[in-house]
Amino acid sequence: MIEPASDLSIAKGAEMLAQGQVVAFPTETVYGLGADATSDPAIASIYAIKNRPTFNPLIVHVATPDDAKALVKVDDRAETLMQAFWPGPLTLVLPRLPNSPISLLASAGLDSIAIRQPDHPVALALIRRAGRPIAAPSANASGSISPTTAQHVEDSLGNRLALIVDGGPCRVGVESTVLDLTQADPTILRPGGVSAQELEAVLGQSVGIAKHDANIVAPGMMASHYAPERPMRLNQEKAEPGEALLAFGPNYPHATLNLSVRGELTEAAANLFAMMRRLDIPDYSAIAVTPIPQSGLGLAINDRLSRAAAPK
Ligand code: TXA
Ligand code: MG
Repeated sequence: MIEPASDLSIAKGAEMLAQGQVVAFPTETVYGLGADATSDPAIASIYAIKNRPTFNPLIVHVATPDDAKALVKVDDRAETLMQAFWPGPLTLVLPRLPNSPISLLASAGLDSIAIRQPDHPVALALIRRAGRPIAAPSANASGSISPTTAQHVEDSLGNRLALIVDGGPCRVGVESTVLDLTQADPTILRPGGVSAQELEAVLGQSVGIAKHDANIVAPGMMASHYAPERPMRLNQEKAEPGEALLAFGPNYPHATLNLSVRGELTEAAANLFAMMRRLDIPDYSAIAVTPIPQSGLGLAINDRLSRAAAPK
């Protein structure tokens, strides 16, 4: 499914992205597995293709800094860094705007969004033509090495992808630096294409580096991770009086909300974060959740639910 980058393959890829499909494309760092960042079902397909056991938050790719400003809160530090390093291998983690259209699944339920403008003509053309922000993790199966050629993507995920746009080998070859700007002290969560020294020189401020397991530990464990205020009770067949019932599958006609009446795990993943938020309201004393199969995307769904249910 590899097609060389051209006006034709980029137009085709953009059309597929606009329809909610997943397309692999080159950036200056590594190849990305892209999908419409505003669509929960499209993002669920990324997780399904990568076969990740957890919902790691994804990086949102935009064509211009102005496009980022419609999605996240850009302060003076972020503005300065965008001017110095964008387009380029620097991802900024910034607060989600209240009306941000970005899928909650893309940010794994977090109130922050990781965002960057890639420095690659094919990536930029694809994002521009698709007319929407594109979420993209590295285009490899979970646990394998990040791909820097279209052939790497084909080897790792080829049988699960309709289109890989080939823009040649990636220039940088390592992932972008992920810089957290949601706190007063800027902190590197993942080292990458831009160094701490380069960031400090531009910011005029020291930049911390998160302890080395901070990016190994699933971000679902991060303290900032969204957890419902209400207690959650998992593997329940019914709710107690006063509780909401979050169901999965066709056997729960009285559910408050159903992740997927058809019993489809991709649909359930797409609905998970938005539905947890909708039920986390004073109308309910707790959220009871019916069993979710422990297979495929069910692993990531159950992982996220058990974190949400853990004592706080
Ligand atoms: O170079 C790159 O960054 C490549 C290309 C395709 O752009 N993308 C990439 O994405 O490496 P991925 O999903 O493999 O890595 C995303 C990183 C993870 O370390 C994740 O934890 C972090 O970004 N991240 C994403 N959103 C975050 C958030 N809201 N808060 C903290 N960390 C976040
Ligand atoms: Mg990766």
